[in-house]
Amino acid sequence: MREFLIAPSLLSADFARLADEIRDVTAAGADWIHLDVMDHHYVPNLTVGPLVCSAIRPYTTVPFDVHLMTMPVDPLVGAFAEAGANLISFHPEASLHVHRTIELIRSHGARAGLALNPGTSLAVLDHVMEMLDVVLVMSVDPGFGGQAFIPETLDKLHLLRERVDTTMQRTGRPLLIEVDGGVKASNIARIAEAGADVLVAGSAVFGAADRAQAIGRLRDELGTVKEGTGVAAIEG
Ligand code: DX5
Ligand code: ZN
Repeated sequence: MREFLIAPSLLSADFARLADEIRDVTAAGADWIHLDVMDHHYVPNLTVGPLVCSAIRPYTTVPFDVHLMTMPVDPLVGAFAEAGANLISFHPEASLHVHRTIELIRSHGARAGLALNPGTSLAVLDHVMEMLDVVLVMSVDPGFGGQAFIPETLDKLHLLRERVDTTMQRTGRPLLIEVDGGVKASNIARIAEAGADVLVAGSAVFGAADRAQAIGRLRDELGTVKEGTGVAAIEG
């Protein structure tokens, strides 16, 4: 049975009550907390830095999944690791030296993720895939919550699933596929069938009054995902 993780994105939370929001989604069964860091440079929006990450970190014990949408990346890595980030993902376009940035993240004891925009080819994974813990597939252009899922992402996920399975067979270490943007109860099963392991959900969780019910609906849909989907499904 495939396992799936749900990572509510704080971008759609009530920022005036972040501690309560984190406690609420933790009690509702969140597997990870996804923190979107935007710098008004790599993306148009501006959100939070390490100070806020560290202030809210004590309110849950679930892993903090920090998604850096900043350029440059390296100067922020140490501060976010110290602020309690368990996983730090970044965009390859935003780092001059992708290999060095992955090593930097790992040297701080955090797990490393590479984030691929809808227009970014899987080729950026060449030569660094074995160093990664997560491939973060953006299913919207980064910058805002509440956007519609880009359907072409499903083809990309099928291809990536095959590459990730081959890599894991070779290395023997886990490598997760995370999907971020427009994930809802209506499409989560198809996204999981295409290959996702971790599903980020911002508006689908924080837009609901009852977060336990919202996460429960997502899990119910994931429960319908058939065995032998993903790579096996495209092969026939
Ligand atoms: C977009 C962010 C996403 C966003 C997802 O740049 O990386 O994490 O919060 O929000 P929804 O689930 O509402 O699309
Ligand atoms: Zn994100």
